[in-house]
Amino acid sequence: MSKALDGVRILDFTHVQSGPTCTQLLAWFGADVIKVEKAGEGDATRGQLRDVPDADSLYFTMLNHNKRSITLDTKNPKGKEVLNTLIKSCDVLVENFAPGALDRMGFTWEKIQELNPRMIVASVKGFGPGPYEDCKVYENVAQCAGGSASTTGFDDGPPLVTGAQIGDSGTGLHLALGIVAALYQRNTTGRGQKVLAAMQDSVLNLCRVKLRDQQRLDRTGLLKEYPQFPDSKFGDAVPRAGNASGGGQPGWILKCKGWETDPNAYIYFITQAPVWGAICKVIGQEDWITHPDYATPAVRLSRLKSIFDRIEAWTMTKTKFEAMKILNEFDIPCGPILSMKEIAEDQSLRATGTVVEVDHPKRGKYLTVGNPIKMSDSLTEVVRSPLLGEHTDEVLTELGYGLEAIAALRTEKVV
Ligand code: COA
Repeated sequence: MSKALDGVRILDFTHVQSGPTCTQLLAWFGADVIKVEKAGEGDATRGQLRDVPDADSLYFTMLNHNKRSITLDTKNPKGKEVLNTLIKSCDVLVENFAPGALDRMGFTWEKIQELNPRMIVASVKGFGPGPYEDCKVYENVAQCAGGSASTTGFDDGPPLVTGAQIGDSGTGLHLALGIVAALYQRNTTGRGQKVLAAMQDSVLNLCRVKLRDQQRLDRTGLLKEYPQFPDSKFGDAVPRAGNASGGGQPGWILKCKGWETDPNAYIYFITQAPVWGAICKVIGQEDWITHPDYATPAVRLSRLKSIFDRIEAWTMTKTKFEAMKILNEFDIPCGPILSMKEIAEDQSLRATGTVVEVDHPKRGKYLTVGNPIKMSDSLTEVVRSPLLGEHTDEVLTELGYGLEAIAALRTEKVV
């Protein structure tokens, strides 16, 4: 079966997490992704958070499937020649170096255009143009600067970063979409273009509902579905909303049977208006269906805390899975708080290829997250990440280098 991006060649100059997530997705869609790594060193994540001595870390392997790896000293004149040839033969260059690093290496946009006017140059940076454009940025910096941290956590606690890597992997996703759109536009213009995804912008895009709430707060002084309502005062910025749903259907995390010993014995419960009657029946509070203090979403807003306390009295009598089963029979939206252990063992996620077991020559079998995007005519097979420089000879041969030329590059430590 063919793949959606068959024939697209990517010069992958990415490292750490944000850029690699982007190129991994493109590889899963069938692009030939050639990861260019520093000779002798490679992507720093190969050696970070190692759990098996001398084997590439899970940090690296889980972000670099389906790619080829070549090593190249791109600061060496002979290395630059190889890079010139690569640029001429690829469709997209993806990079997430610190601001200015590609220019300092001598590969400005103008130079790349001269070598290959059809090339798309796609970059992740921490910030877009502005006061912070020269800053180096990691995940949590982006979460803080993009509005996520100030709106995450509880009202009486400090700002919180989330476990979801919205700054890195979130930006990688944004960049991948930009690249695919640029490839599509190139079909009509014949030209490449620059694609930039700034981590602050990507986090803000994912926090768009909080900018919505900021403007609602500015206008009305209140956010009635936030836990601060009706007892606490609102300030002038969107407060942290704890586990409130953030949407028009109030929700909260509730304890389930076993919560005293299991930190994940909880369920997310949404009091969706159309199933209010069913919720009341399930928890044994049928009088609330017609009671004037509870019958409509508007009157319920000022009583959400006591309503969730009452529902929790019911959820605490069930395990999260028992509660799920009962609630789903009535179409009541809810979600179990799943631990990573439970997710790793979940057979349905294995069956869909979302959780995949991969074999690696140095580290043995490990679990990874497969392609979360499923396409009917472009199936994803997850292939283990490459060893450092595993494909150097293969790629150089494809570029027209003979055995002697490759040996000379190796002797001079260019590759
Ligand atoms: N051969 C020779 N030199 C190479 C090379 C190669 N194959 N690949 C990279 N280099 C050089 C770069 O040219 C750069 O040199 P310079 O500083 O002399 O210009 C150097 O290696 C280091 O690159 P840099 O990106 O600065 O790495 P860092 O480890 O200091 O910083 C980040 C890491 C992530 C903070 C930084 O890259 C960054 O801010 N990236 C953009 C935002 C981002 O993606 N952040 C999320 C990461 S998950």
